[in-house]
Amino acid sequence: MTQPQRRTKARMRELVEALNGHLHRYHVLDAPEISDAEYDHLFLELKALEEEFGTPPNSPTLRVGAPPAEGFEPVPHRVPMLSLDNAMNADDIRAWGERMARALDRDEPLPLVAEPKLDGAGVELVYEEGRWIVGATRGDGQTGEEVTANLRQLLSVPLELEGPAERKRDRVSVRGEVVLPLAAFARLNRLRAERDLEPFANPRNAAAGSLRMLHDVDVERLRSLEFRAYAVAEGLPADITDQVGIQTQLRDWGFLISPDTARCSDLDEAIAWHEALLARRESLSVEIDGTVLKVDSLALQRDLGELSRVPRWAIAFKFPAHQEHTVVEEIFASVGRTGALTPVAKLRPVFVGGVTVSNASLHNQDEIDRKDVRVGDTVIVQRAGDVIPQIVAVVKTKGKRRRKKWRLPDRCPICDTKSVREEGEAVTRCPNGACPAKIRNRILHVAGRGALDVDGLGEKLVAQLLESGLVKELPDLFGLEVEALLALERMGQKSADNLIAAIAKAKRTTLPRFLIALGIPEVGAGVAELLANHFGDLDLLMAADPEALVAVDGVGPIVAQNVADYFSEGRNQDEIERLRGLGLEWPSIAPRSELEADGPFSDKTFVLTGTLPHLSRSAAKARIEAAGGKVTGTVSKKTDYVVAGEAAGSKLHKAAELEVAVIDEPTLLEMLGDG
Ligand code: IVH
Repeated sequence: MTQPQRRTKARMRELVEALNGHLHRYHVLDAPEISDAEYDHLFLELKALEEEFGTPPNSPTLRVGAPPAEGFEPVPHRVPMLSLDNAMNADDIRAWGERMARALDRDEPLPLVAEPKLDGAGVELVYEEGRWIVGATRGDGQTGEEVTANLRQLLSVPLELEGPAERKRDRVSVRGEVVLPLAAFARLNRLRAERDLEPFANPRNAAAGSLRMLHDVDVERLRSLEFRAYAVAEGLPADITDQVGIQTQLRDWGFLISPDTARCSDLDEAIAWHEALLARRESLSVEIDGTVLKVDSLALQRDLGELSRVPRWAIAFKFPAHQEHTVVEEIFASVGRTGALTPVAKLRPVFVGGVTVSNASLHNQDEIDRKDVRVGDTVIVQRAGDVIPQIVAVVKTKGKRRRKKWRLPDRCPICDTKSVREEGEAVTRCPNGACPAKIRNRILHVAGRGALDVDGLGEKLVAQLLESGLVKELPDLFGLEVEALLALERMGQKSADNLIAAIAKAKRTTLPRFLIALGIPEVGAGVAELLANHFGDLDLLMAADPEALVAVDGVGPIVAQNVADYFSEGRNQDEIERLRGLGLEWPSIAPRSELEADGPFSDKTFVLTGTLPHLSRSAAKARIEAAGGKVTGTVSKKTDYVVAGEAAGSKLHKAAELEVAVIDEPTLLEMLGDG
């Protein structure tokens, strides 16, 4: 190797190490040290060098757009991936304690470790000489499927173990759960509903399904998954003697571990901890279905050993299910914003997972046929976390006479147009562009909080506007005048003034909100934010082809195609023109490539902490940076503002200590001119 070559190689190593470190600090430690722009800069430098000199196996560039595996190869687990015995109540737990006391012939209390039972997909990651080699699903416990390519997209999967070489010799296999955080789960299902796809029943199915995507791999979806480590099956350093030590080692290697774990000195403490966890269940960011209790001492674990399928030293203390029985009182077809006819079951109201459920979507005819749900049936209803309520199955009662099978109507129940179901499609639609139901739902969507937020424009008023003929198409809404409204029944001067003022206010919006309002399939708040920040300007976005759209970090090929298709339709272009002509406007955003040096936030440093109600962390960061501000990971005297959301932690204390201003999301948005 020549001198310059050697220098280049050294620089590449340095870049790989630095970038992996930054990824870890951002995604695992939640304490980034550099801005996204600085990160991108380093990333591009590495990418350019790799083009000439090849890609090192631990390069962060491998995480981007990696080709999916051809199929899923079987991977035998050298150490079987066991399951856990279930306990449904405190008595079961005490019985477990007694079994262990007997087996160990020991009376004194057994110290335990309590961890949330993560409701995701079990996964094994194998490292050799500290380097990640392969990732596999649990499968049947003996053999899993290789899903390395998909797992590579998860930023919480370290490509390389951190720490001293002597602690990661030979082969290390780490086990944990891939989970889909509830916020991402809700978003995914919203997107699926918009595309008339069946929603995932729960975050576990969504996580498992995402890991096993073979075609049309959706990188954004994979990126929203999290790997949380909880066990080491091979290669545990010999000086580790307890469960708490395992957690510390996992963290030192660079893994994300569940924040809510605790050491309990006896069964009573563990039972109390479980109950406290159950009480907090709804406020956690991921779905959990119980507590896993493990004997802390590894020596005692070895003494207790395993039964055929489950260890004796651990147990899953399950939460009560988010499922109830109820009766289907009626089934009707509802017509959505896109004209899809969705069968909906009206249920005898039932309290499930913290809310009263009285309706459940049955999605489409195939779904009704598959589950064979009929009026009068007793059904199991499920609601997990943020999920839309679902009918899991019909409870069959022997000898009970049932009504006849339910079929979607041949005609739109709203406008009586003949409904159509295209060959190969699951959805039945009303093809009438002027169907009042479509327009009604579009207007409600546009008026919604996440879109243009027209204050006071609810279902009743929309119905009145449509019935009176004042509004026939969406743009008509923005051309309304007070005089015309006064002609409506029960409409006084004050209400009319208020509505017109609310509409006028909604017209001054932001580009992301406008994009959400358009209702492009799969373009929710997150994608809208990415597109707006990337292009900065609607005309540039409208002119972008799918290739240019996929180039936006976080936008996958399906979304890109949807966006391009939407903007290439003449009808949509005309509508956008009309809306702009009626005064809809938004400030242009400095595209990501030319961050404003003199924006309202120039010289201002922000720290984000906790979960913000609307903006994702990356969206908040992008907005602040677009306004010229800087986002860092640690609160110091140089910090100007700490933006705090739900469950904000130590950064808040630090801010108080240093007397740094703490603001919430509404204040931030107001400062951004968005309030
Ligand atoms: S320990 C031998 N810890 O639950 C020990 N498992 O129902 C077994 N799970 O297959 C694994 N959270 O996929 C462990 N904190 C946790 C867990 C956990 C979820 C899963 C795991 C296991 C399944 C058994």
